[in-house]
Amino acid sequence: MESSDCFIETRGLSRQYRVGPAEIHALVEVDFHVQKGEFVAILGVSGSGKSTLLHLLGGLDTPDCGCVRVGDRDLAGMTSMERTIYRRTVVGFIFQSYYLVGSLTATENVALALTFQGVFGAERTRLAAESIERVGLGLRASHRPNQLSGGEQQRVAIARAIVHRPALLLADEPTGNLDRATAAEVMGLIHQVHRDLGTTVVMVTHDEEMAARVADRVLRIRDGRLEGAGGSA
Ligand SMILES: Nc1ncnc2c1ncn2[C@@H]1O[C@H](COP(=O)(O)OP(=O)(O)O)[C@@H](O)[C@H]1O
Ligand SMILES: [Mg+2]
Repeated sequence: MESSDCFIETRGLSRQYRVGPAEIHALVEVDFHVQKGEFVAILGVSGSGKSTLLHLLGGLDTPDCGCVRVGDRDLAGMTSMERTIYRRTVVGFIFQSYYLVGSLTATENVALALTFQGVFGAERTRLAAESIERVGLGLRASHRPNQLSGGEQQRVAIARAIVHRPALLLADEPTGNLDRATAAEVMGLIHQVHRDLGTTVVMVTHDEEMAARVADRVLRIRDGRLEGAGGSA
């Protein structure tokens, strides 16, 4: 792989938690590469370190040792302010729970995210509406979360995650709360975003079949160790 194509690179990435006398090695010396525009799925059982890895890639957490590079940024060396800016401008997050604001409509939930980008007024309204259209919720734009199904709420969360056109989309079990048919639709939408916008995607899931269907590459994590992590590198 050309080094210029390497968008994410981790070396010796480790994270441990201390709970009383116990030391939990959540992530152990992970070397991981993702190419620009690639869609990587990470599979692993509960407690294997998937969320820990995603949080480190997204600047929600900092490693105990090792380095994380995204584009030309060294995340481990960032101040907390730099990390906040990184999270807001470079990354889009999707979680298992949708975390929508219940009192706001679908479009307003998406528009709210844009205020963190310093986008206001007519431009904010236009971009939020466009993002809601992209996820197929044009007719539901003025509905509040309690008027939407789980799948529709996750679509709103996806619209919010991509409205600022992040270079990196991180998805942590995005279909974990959905039935099989709805999960397939949401996976299809994430795949479509990846394809249409060229977004690099790292997605954590339990679902092997779904991962194989949408991702360019599937990796497995076990006890904090990523198996075959070099991948295409
Ligand atoms: N804040 C924390 N404090 C203590 N232990 C944690 C914390 N977060 C995660 N862990 C532990 O680290 C391991 C990996 O957790 P996690 O990355 O959440 O796994 P996964 O997302 O694959 O279910 C687990 O053993 C979990 O209990
Ligand atoms: Mg998790």
